[in-house]
Amino acid sequence: MARKATNKLLQKAKESKSDEFYTQLSDIENELKHYKDRFKDKVVYCNCDDPRTSNFYEYFSSNFKELRLKKIIASCYRKQERDLFNNKEFESGFFYEYSGTQGEKIKPSANDIIHFKGDGDFRSSESIELLKQADIIVTNPPFSLFRKYVDQLVKYDKKFLIIGNINAITYKEIFKLIKGNKAWLGINLGRGISGFIVPEHYELYGTEARIDSLGNRIVSPNNCLWLTNLDTSKRHENITLTKKYFGNEIEYPYYDNYDGINVNRTKDIPLDYEGVLGVPITFLHKYNPEQFEIIKFRKGNDEKDLSINGKCPYFRILIKKRIQKNRTDDTKILVSDLS
Ligand SMILES: C[S@@+](CC[C@H](N)C(=O)[O-])C[C@H]1O[C@@H](n2cnc3c(N)ncnc32)[C@H](O)[C@@H]1O
Repeated sequence: MARKATNKLLQKAKESKSDEFYTQLSDIENELKHYKDRFKDKVVYCNCDDPRTSNFYEYFSSNFKELRLKKIIASCYRKQERDLFNNKEFESGFFYEYSGTQGEKIKPSANDIIHFKGDGDFRSSESIELLKQADIIVTNPPFSLFRKYVDQLVKYDKKFLIIGNINAITYKEIFKLIKGNKAWLGINLGRGISGFIVPEHYELYGTEARIDSLGNRIVSPNNCLWLTNLDTSKRHENITLTKKYFGNEIEYPYYDNYDGINVNRTKDIPLDYEGVLGVPITFLHKYNPEQFEIIKFRKGNDEKDLSINGKCPYFRILIKKRIQKNRTDDTKILVSDLS
């Protein structure tokens, strides 16, 4: 029991450390280039972002014309720690709106920003008023509040593109959205997000930490993803299946507590198996809802973790192939093999 409590505390400490991971412009560009046509006439709100330092604000203001945006709003929580502009001078949270009419002056100074009465928490009524005006919310929110953050986006029925930890997939609230096709993974994942800028007090250690040419302290946790409900072409592409179940049954053991087989890598999903398959969570990065249906997460019929001969592989997602109208070459092979 005491050990469980300690683990929880450690987890919490880890989560709040990554609350102060600031996103690099290059990582924002790498993801946003896949959604360029989604922003025409839209109001974008970055609600965990100091407009003077955030690279999200930087990206949208610099690409305002190209994206044909209507407005950008960036708002800042007063406790934010990236103190490049001596932010602690402010008692309250603040925001800035850019609608292209301010000419080239896109970086606000301290005089341009508008103060909230409160601290600028994304859940505050003042921030929610801005959220209501917005069409698309794009940011890297505090990881320790990720569930609450997504919950609010869903409640206000907003389009979003946000950064989170890969573990977020395993949260039941987030998994439910993915299963229900209300959210999905963006394009970049893991090493596809190169690293985050961390404050001075953050200890740099190991090979995944460095100082860049501008003197920014960068950590590369390699465990983050983009979560979105903006459509991408990737999510309509079939996973190419090359492996076969029949003849290789030994590689695909049955679960003790579910009528399905275990698959250790997404690329090993067999093309000739029609039943339920348990795949690793990274499958979601390749998931095309027209090709597969998500059945369940992690648990067998007895609601215990899926097991094979008493042992539990790492979290698995139970999926099943859909019958596709426009069959791919892979499924054609499947049909001829079975006949
Ligand atoms: C992971 S950092 C990312 C910052 C910025 N969005 C970026 O990507 O560079 C999360 C930010 O949210 C701020 N924050 C923490 N709690 C918040 C809250 N309740 N409401 C709004 N912002 C919050 C943190 O201070 C931090 O600046």
